[in-house]
Amino acid sequence: MPEPELDIHLDADEWAPQLRNDVLEGLTSSPKTLPPKWFYDDRGSDLFDQITRLPEYYPTEAERQILHARAGEIAALSAADTLIELGSGTSDKTRVLLDAFTATGQLVRFVPFDVSEQTLIDAAKVIGEDYPDLRIHGVVGDFERHLGTLPSGGRRVIVFLGGTIGNFAPAQRRDFLEQVVATLNPGDSFVLGTDLVKDSGRLVAAYDDSQGVTAEFNKNVLSVVNKHLDANFDPDTFEHVAVFDEENAWIEMRLRSLVDQTVHIADLDLDVSFAAGEEMRTEISAKFTRDRVADELADVGLDLLDWWTDTAGDYALSISTCR
Ligand code: SAH
Ligand code: AVI
Repeated sequence: MPEPELDIHLDADEWAPQLRNDVLEGLTSSPKTLPPKWFYDDRGSDLFDQITRLPEYYPTEAERQILHARAGEIAALSAADTLIELGSGTSDKTRVLLDAFTATGQLVRFVPFDVSEQTLIDAAKVIGEDYPDLRIHGVVGDFERHLGTLPSGGRRVIVFLGGTIGNFAPAQRRDFLEQVVATLNPGDSFVLGTDLVKDSGRLVAAYDDSQGVTAEFNKNVLSVVNKHLDANFDPDTFEHVAVFDEENAWIEMRLRSLVDQTVHIADLDLDVSFAAGEEMRTEISAKFTRDRVADELADVGLDLLDWWTDTAGDYALSISTCR
């Protein structure tokens, strides 16, 4: 079994200035914001993994159900020999696709791509052990900046699971989809997981679970800033908030300051004041309809080939192809 190949486009030298820029921009704007990509240090990735097993958080099992039902069709429709996974995390559900693609003998290469280096290395190692005939080529990078560095060659399918596309703001989402299309060749395909609009009570419960794991995940971003920018956030002085914004059809996760306080971020030489009750946005998670997904894909030149939901109709997987 060959060792997994690894490209690192976001090493410590690149990572720190990006975090600094994002934190400076987000904490000096009004309302304050922090981008969700900084949730995923080792602890954040582990907390996300725990979230996927919570009874309230339905997307992971819904997507797994669709993958079990449709992986063979996805392999046949894409005819791909290279499977690229963006925001791959542990690639746990992706095994359902890898099983279907390897069963036909068509798959040569698996390319997991994630911002979280250790999670990616661990996933690449175990998948390499379990699928010894596959070439594994991991890429550590930011899918908003480094899609141009994806390995080329072969018939490719890019998969983006988990509903992570919902974590972009609309303009970012359009930019991202344009970059996906720019990396695809005619005939290549794109498999996209999207969470669907539904009853707001279930949505809020999925992002404010009874065990408080999502609250820990949300507050973890403060520990990331403390650790890497020498800041003194006290996570106990913030509370987790999840609301459904009906107009934008997205969940917003926020951190609400429980007290009047000033946080010092030594590496930025910055003091940031929070009023008691002030909320800082840390994530949006957009929820979709079939029409919206089809329109947004068409806007960037991707034609919807097929669309599948789980039996409850909570979540959808689509496959589209490049014109
Ligand atoms: N695909 C998995 C994991 C989803 S969690 C699933 O369906 O369960 C979101 C993943 O995207 C995390 O692994 C996180 O590290 C990664 N991620 C978040 N922002 C990213 C970015 N800007 N570039 C690359 N990966 C990113
Ligand atoms: C990764 N992403 C799709 C998750 C979501 O549902 O938006 C992240 C998450 N945030 C809170 N819980 C899970």
